Amino acid sequence: MRILLAGASGTLGRTLVPQLQQAGHTIVGVTRSPESAVRLRARGVQPLVADVLDRDRFLAAVRGQRADAVVHELTALSSAPTHYRSMRATNELRDRGTTHLLEAAVELGATRFLTQSIVFGYGYRRTHPPLVDEDAPFGQPEGAPTDGVHAALASTERQVLGTPGIEGISLRYGLFYGLDAPVVARMLRRQVLPVTRFEGKVPTVHHEDAAAATVAALTRGVPGSAYNVADDTPVSWRRHMTAAARALGAPAPFVVPAWLLRASLPYAAELMTRLDLRVTSERAHRDLGWTPRYPSVEDGWRAAAATR
Ligand SMILES: NC(=O)c1ccc[n+]([C@@H]2O[C@H](COP(=O)([O-])OP(=O)(O)OC[C@H]3O[C@@H](n4cnc5c(N)ncnc54)[C@H](OP(=O)(O)O)[C@@H]3O)[C@@H](O)[C@H]2O)c1
Repeated sequence: MRILLAGASGTLGRTLVPQLQQAGHTIVGVTRSPESAVRLRARGVQPLVADVLDRDRFLAAVRGQRADAVVHELTALSSAPTHYRSMRATNELRDRGTTHLLEAAVELGATRFLTQSIVFGYGYRRTHPPLVDEDAPFGQPEGAPTDGVHAALASTERQVLGTPGIEGISLRYGLFYGLDAPVVARMLRRQVLPVTRFEGKVPTVHHEDAAAATVAALTRGVPGSAYNVADDTPVSWRRHMTAAARALGAPAPFVVPAWLLRASLPYAAELMTRLDLRVTSERAHRDLGWTPRYPSVEDGWRAAAATR
């Protein structure tokens, strides 16, 4: 397939590119930066320099090209999202960015469309059943400042799964991790990434596993479906960051009270002090033939440490 990959220069994009190429796909990679375009070209990707949110220029840039599929992996989180306002730009990419990418799909003649999503759409504050599947309410307001995030997650899925003529698929990834996660590594090394004693579980997925599920979804995903893409063993934020610090050779993260985190980093605290969620990725196992290579963050971080 010929694929327009929006986010080819991102953390997941960098892992996804070689996996797509290995599967025999050709990639046109969208980036806003001429420097990233040079790096993409060196990796065998045809760069397309454009800002997806600048609709007219973006559509002009894709005009005359063709693709079989569009993959939306855009985000605006170059630093960790600590406050609700840090999510605004990413919300926009999920809402208006999706609209523009769907318009681009029409220009390109692409019928297949994969969009990224995240399991946090099941709700940060809800009391969840023991195992959450894709039929659970998703992207619903919680009457909390996280509602903007949920509205944007609902928007990308509504558009991608509901556009006639588009074979839309949504990948509800767990929280990414791996050595290619510069934000977490930087924060742990600088000892500015706190944890609390809260034991709520956070679904996670190694970058390589997230990329593998995405490649499989391109050809095997059932149109109109959403897929949870998470490993089998969600752990608490504290356990996750302790494993990460060990793998990265960073000091153990420091423990702070939950109330302090909620007061100082309110959006990050949703994940670190409120979320208690376990999802099943059984649908992805069955339809995509995907199983995570790293069943838990401890396996993934151990393997990462061995390659340092
Ligand atoms: N990180 C997680 O834990 C997680 C979990 C679940 C889902 N996701 C989703 O998975 C996707 C990939 O995440 P990631 O961590 O790989 O993101 P990332 O490293 O922050 O990469 C973001 C990408 O988006 C591109 N981008 C941002 N704004 C753009 C715009 N206006 N026009 C064109 N390109 C733009 C960037 O390209 P340039 O800067 O080169 O222009 C970059 O390639 C995202 O959609 C994210 O929301 C992430």
